[in-house]
Amino acid sequence: MSLLGLLATTFWVLLPAYLPNNIAVLEGGNEPIDEEKKWHQKRILGDGKTWRGTSVGIAGGILAGMFLNALRPELTAFYSFPEFTFKAIFSLATGAMLGDMAASFIKRRLGKSRGAAVPGLDQLDFLVGSLVLTYIMAPNWMRSNFTPDMIAVALIITPLLHVSANRIGYELGYKNEPW
Ligand code: CTP
Ligand code: MG
Repeated sequence: MSLLGLLATTFWVLLPAYLPNNIAVLEGGNEPIDEEKKWHQKRILGDGKTWRGTSVGIAGGILAGMFLNALRPELTAFYSFPEFTFKAIFSLATGAMLGDMAASFIKRRLGKSRGAAVPGLDQLDFLVGSLVLTYIMAPNWMRSNFTPDMIAVALIITPLLHVSANRIGYELGYKNEPW
């Protein structure tokens, strides 16, 4: 596979994992998932993890995967992108939100307030969550569509894309912090 093909394929299979966090930023608000409950005097997840952001984010990731499946036949003349199974789409999108939530749980245990930056964790939490959940829920799809070099590319491009998307979100006034 050419480098461009590798980049394009990695971006394609990760799109259902990339969108949920960004949609959550646009749609977040209302009821925090942890209901403001504390564990050892510290919030379980914090106000930044809401039912609305999470559910709309997951739904958006799922729709994106279904859209890519529908688009795929139109692109075969140019490039053969992988097809998603529904389990793969679901686990990529849901795993992203679960990974992001796990990071908030860790951040609260470390005593960091909502929005505090933890470099590394913030940029990779959703990628790791997606890959782990997809490996558990759709192992055959994962094995046939995710080569080790794609995982390496994902670990490099994901932080770059995440930082850029958050910067744009901040400049446009959707996000409170530029990270
Ligand atoms: N958001 C949400 N539900 C989620 C994830 C995000 O509603 N599951 C929304 C919230 O409005 C949140 C914003 O998106 O404030 C930015 O998300 P993120 O950076 O993940 O959360 P933080 O506010 O930085 O909180 P934390 O410190 O817990 O990461
Ligand atoms: Mg944040």
